[in-house]
Amino acid sequence: MCGIVGYVGPRQCVDLIVGGLRKLEYRGYDSAGVAVVGPNGLAVKRAKGKLQNLVALLADAPLAGTTGIGHTRWATHGKPSDENAHPHCYGGVAVVHNGIIENHLELKAALAARGHKFSSETDTEIFAHLIADALAAGARDLRAAVGQALAQVKGTYAIAVVSQQRPEEIVAAKNASPLVVGYGKGESFLASDVPAILEHTREVVYLEEGELAVLTPAGIALYGRDGEPLARKPRKIEWSAVAAEKDGHKHFMHKEIFEQPRAVADTIRGRASLEQGDVALDGMELPADYARSLERIVIVACGTSWHAGLSGRQMIESLARVPVEVELASEFRNRDPLVDERVLCLAISQSGETADTLAAVKIARARGARAYAICNVVGSAISRECDGGTLFTRAGPEIGVASTKAFTTQLAALFLMAVRLGRLRGTLSPERARELLEDLRRVPSWMEQMIRQEAQLMPIAKRCAAARDVLFLGRGSEYPVALEGALKLKEISYIHAEGYAAGEMKHGPIALIDEELPVVVLATREPAYEKTLGNMEEVRARGGQVFAVVTEGDTHAASLAEVAITVPPAPPVLVPLLSIIPLQFLAYHVADLKGTDVDQPRNLAKSVTVE
Ligand code: F6R
Repeated sequence: MCGIVGYVGPRQCVDLIVGGLRKLEYRGYDSAGVAVVGPNGLAVKRAKGKLQNLVALLADAPLAGTTGIGHTRWATHGKPSDENAHPHCYGGVAVVHNGIIENHLELKAALAARGHKFSSETDTEIFAHLIADALAAGARDLRAAVGQALAQVKGTYAIAVVSQQRPEEIVAAKNASPLVVGYGKGESFLASDVPAILEHTREVVYLEEGELAVLTPAGIALYGRDGEPLARKPRKIEWSAVAAEKDGHKHFMHKEIFEQPRAVADTIRGRASLEQGDVALDGMELPADYARSLERIVIVACGTSWHAGLSGRQMIESLARVPVEVELASEFRNRDPLVDERVLCLAISQSGETADTLAAVKIARARGARAYAICNVVGSAISRECDGGTLFTRAGPEIGVASTKAFTTQLAALFLMAVRLGRLRGTLSPERARELLEDLRRVPSWMEQMIRQEAQLMPIAKRCAAARDVLFLGRGSEYPVALEGALKLKEISYIHAEGYAAGEMKHGPIALIDEELPVVVLATREPAYEKTLGNMEEVRARGGQVFAVVTEGDTHAASLAEVAITVPPAPPVLVPLLSIIPLQFLAYHVADLKGTDVDQPRNLAKSVTVE
C-alpha cells in the first residue's frame, strides 16, 4: 500500500515530512525514507523497519533542505531492506511511489541493456532511471521527463519526484493509487492521504486518474491526462485529524471492508493473463513436473486464514484435480502428520508471523514436503521459511483486528494458484482458464455492488444485536463463508455465533431453533442450493428468523427470508469473495450498535506469535 508525503516552501522540510509519514504508518511500516534537495544538492536517508529507525538515523545525521519527499513502505516487490526502501535515486532524480508497475521486468531489462545499474529489487527504481534518462536526453523540464517515463509504464502509481536540477519543484502523478495535494501560503504539500498534511493545510485537491501536478512554493499547477492545464478549486477538509486517518470511516474495520475491491484488484494485477489463459505466480516456484507429480496438498492455517483454506480446497480440487487437506495449524503440529516429499504444504497467513502456522510449516518441511505460502507481509517469518516461495496478497496493512481484506485477497490468491495448478496439470484448457480469469477480473466491481447494499443490513444487525446466539448456515462453497461470518460476529460483538454446514442442521443444531434465534443463511445458487432452501423452510417452520444472502434475481430464495441481500451471478467458487461482505458488515454493525471496541476487541491480538 505505502504512503508518500512531499513539501516545497520556505521551511526546513525533514521534520514536517517525517511528521506526515507518522500519520501514514497505517499504510505500511516495512521501511521509510526521505529525500531533500538542499544547499548541497540531493540527499537521501532510508532505513528498514519502523519510522523510528529513520528518525534515529536523521538525529545522527540531519538533512537540510526546503524541498523534499518521503515514503513509508509496505513491500510488494523486494523484501524490506535499506536498499529497497524509497526514495529511489538515479542521476540526481529521487522518486517515491505507491503502487505496482506490471511491466517493470521488461523495462528493467531494456534499461540494463543500455548500461543502467540498479541498486534495489523494487519496481519503483525504474522510474528514477527513466526520468533521469529523459532529462539527459533533453526533456523540456521535469514535468515533461516524468510524462515520458509514465508513458512507458503499465500499472498503478502515485509518485512524487524531485530533481537536483529543479530545487524548488516536485512533480507528482496519479493512476489508481491515491494522491492529494494541499495548498498553503507560499508552500505546497502532497500526500497519499489527507491526515499527513492536515496539520498544515485543509485546502486540498484529490488528483484523478492520469493527472499530474507540479508543486512549487508559488502554487500547484494541475494537468490532465492529455497534458492540458486543469482548473480545479481546492476543497476544504472539515474532518478532525482522527477521522481523517480513517478516511472518514468510524473504524478501520469499516474502512478495510470498503478497501476490498482495490485490494483484490491489486492482488490480481499483473498475474492473471487473459491473452495466455494462464497465471504468473510471481514469487512461487512451481515447476511443471513437480505440479504434475503432486500427490496431495496440505493447507495449514489458523482462524480466518483457515477459512480461506477451506475455500481454497474447493478451488484447487475442482480446477486442478489434486486432493487437498485443510489443517488447523495448531492441531497439525500436535499430531504425527502423514506428510512427505510428495506433499505440497501451503501455509496461509495474513501476518506471516502466526506461531502455530510457522511451526506447522517447519514440521512439514522436516518430513520432506516443499512449503509455499500465501501471505500479506513481505519478509515475514512464514514467507522466509517457505522454500517453494510465497504468493503475496497485496491487501496493504490490516489494522482492524478482525480480518476482512486479508481474507478476500487470500481467496483471490488461492484462485490464481488453483488456475495455475490446473494449467500445469493439464486439467484446465487455456480457454477455460481465460473464462475463469475473466470472472475473477469482474470480482472488484461485483464487490462494489455488495458494498452498496450496506444499509439493507441494518434491520438484521438490530435483530442480531439483541440476540444471545446467531446461527450461520452455508453449503458447498458457502460453508467456509458461514464459518467466517460466525467468527467475525463473535470476535467483535461478543455474541455467541456458530457456523454450520447447512446439511448438518438436522444432525444437531436444529434443536436450537426457536423464535429468538436469528439464522443467517448463505443461499446463493451453488450446485446443491435447493437443499439449502429446504433448510430455510425448516427454520421458518420452527419460528426462527431467517436472513439470507441470495443470488440476484432469485425471488424464490428471497421470499423465504425476512431480509435478503443479493449477490451477482458469479461462478460458485468465486461467490465467497462476495457473500462474505454482507457478513462482515453485519458483524461490524452489530458490534457498533453494542458499542464494543470494533478495531481492538478484547483479548485478541493482530498477530498471534505465541502458541
Ligand atoms: C480473525 C482473525 C484471526 C486470524 C488468525 C491467523 O478475524 O484475524 O482468526 O486469521 O489469527 O492469523 P494470520 O492470518 O496472520 O496467520
